[in-house]
Amino acid sequence: MKILIINGPNLNLLGKREPEIYGNRSFEQFLEELCGIFPDIELDYFQSNHEGALLDRIHEAGFTVNGIVLNAGAFTHTSIALADAVAAVTAPVIEVHISNVHKREPFRHHSYLSPKCVGSIVGLGLDGYRLAIEYLQRK
Ligand code: DQA
Repeated sequence: MKILIINGPNLNLLGKREPEIYGNRSFEQFLEELCGIFPDIELDYFQSNHEGALLDRIHEAGFTVNGIVLNAGAFTHTSIALADAVAAVTAPVIEVHISNVHKREPFRHHSYLSPKCVGSIVGLGLDGYRLAIEYLQRK
């Protein structure tokens, strides 16, 4: 089984960025833990700050992997192109947000991606990625 985790803009700064919201751990550290939790799943990871690069990666992987866990960061709230890409591919996509976007500024309450995703996990910290993978594994 192969699952691709995609992080969008500014998520390369996890561990340094607003730790009171996003925590103290880098995603690379967390990824090591995830690989230990899911030894039988091939976990692939991609991060980019560029919308086009995220689109290209979704197109490349979205017809072959068993699932995509997508935290598109701020593009969640702005990108019709990413929503179209999620709709276009055959792999199930789970939307994850580390913070509870519904408790934050109103512009974070709307997601272009949610209607195209199988489901969304918000506000559970990095654990949201683990839960998304667990769901995809059981499917
Ligand atoms: C985020 C929430 C977004 O609103 C924000 O722009 C991010 C991170 C989250 O994981 O909580 O960059 O996707």
